[in-house]
Amino acid sequence: MSVPTQKSTRSYFDYNATSPLAPGVLEAVLEALKVVGNPSSPHREGRRAQALLDSARETVAAAIGAEALDLVFTSGGTEANHLGLVGLARAVNRPGPVLLPPTVHPSLYAAGEAAGAERGGMVTLRASTDGTLDLAAAEKVLASSKARVLALSLANHELGSVEDLAAVSGLCRSAGCLLFCDAVQGFGRLEVASLLPFVDGLSLSAHKIGGPKGVGALWLRPGPSVESLIGGGKQESGRRPGTQAVALIAGFAAACDTLPVRLADAPRQADLRDSLAMGLEELGAVLHSSSEGLCNTVLVRFPGVPGELLVTGLDLVGVAASTGAACSSGTTEASSVLLGIGLSKTEAMEALRLSIGPDTTAVEVQSLLQLMPPILERAKAFG
Ligand SMILES: Cc1ncc(COP(=O)(O)O)c(C=O)c1O
Repeated sequence: MSVPTQKSTRSYFDYNATSPLAPGVLEAVLEALKVVGNPSSPHREGRRAQALLDSARETVAAAIGAEALDLVFTSGGTEANHLGLVGLARAVNRPGPVLLPPTVHPSLYAAGEAAGAERGGMVTLRASTDGTLDLAAAEKVLASSKARVLALSLANHELGSVEDLAAVSGLCRSAGCLLFCDAVQGFGRLEVASLLPFVDGLSLSAHKIGGPKGVGALWLRPGPSVESLIGGGKQESGRRPGTQAVALIAGFAAACDTLPVRLADAPRQADLRDSLAMGLEELGAVLHSSSEGLCNTVLVRFPGVPGELLVTGLDLVGVAASTGAACSSGTTEASSVLLGIGLSKTEAMEALRLSIGPDTTAVEVQSLLQLMPPILERAKAFG
């Protein structure tokens, strides 16, 4: 199966950075843009905008098996991580650090630093070589630190590795520590609803599942009192002031409507991921992602070859790939994820991330593998 979306002659292998719009999203956004009212206004126009917002909230909440009331719309995953982690840390009314592994997305790491700077500090936990939390090490820190919140990513944005949330949750609950989960990369690739009982807060972003960029959501378990980080109106139950981006939120909901199709496509993507990984290994790549991880993510490096040169070479022949997180590409800094699993800076700079999605075909995977050898040769000569 495949979800038909906007297609071009280029091959897109960067779904973890962002994904093409899913069917129905553009139409939903355009339709909602025509709505004049402000959802907070009491007149008919306002009520119409509010009705759109209510319906979108129901849809997004249902996609994760949550109650609409417990969802806060944000400008994306970055803001949801910040409000969620800082908000939960503030809500715990006792001292203690915030814990997270070094492999989380920079937005979550920064939120951890901000929460820690306010009170109790931040402790970076050890990550295993696949990028997930080292559970034994985490258990020791939890036993001795009286931590307030532990934060992690459901699925790693570079390595595709997936956390065992049930296990982490068990450790956190016995230590009296809250658990916050960045589900941005797992959403649409893994069933999130079954994970909600394990966490106290969870972030989502629309553009990773075929929705518009610039909108996301934070789910908060009823209980800890999370308050807005900035002053303003009473929107989003007072937790996130500012007029809601109604059209983007409508697009987010439309993308959520395609989730069953996307989830059903995961086994097909996993097969493509495995043939891509195997083909790259045959060309000499060291594989850092695994078939246990996300259905769509391959992270390799070719020793001695800077990843940036491969990304440029691929771009020139019509393939969009990346060296890692889009928010850090173009910088000369090595990926914090790869440093966090013990790679050297040189090794980390060799990373090539290929992430696929519902539109990726077996033909595209095979042609990418055929395009690689001359690109590799040229990159080796330059590198
Ligand atoms: C794991 C993870 N968390 C958070 C974000 C940030 O989401 P947004 O781009 O919506 O701010 C990203 C984006 O790449 C991500 O991969």
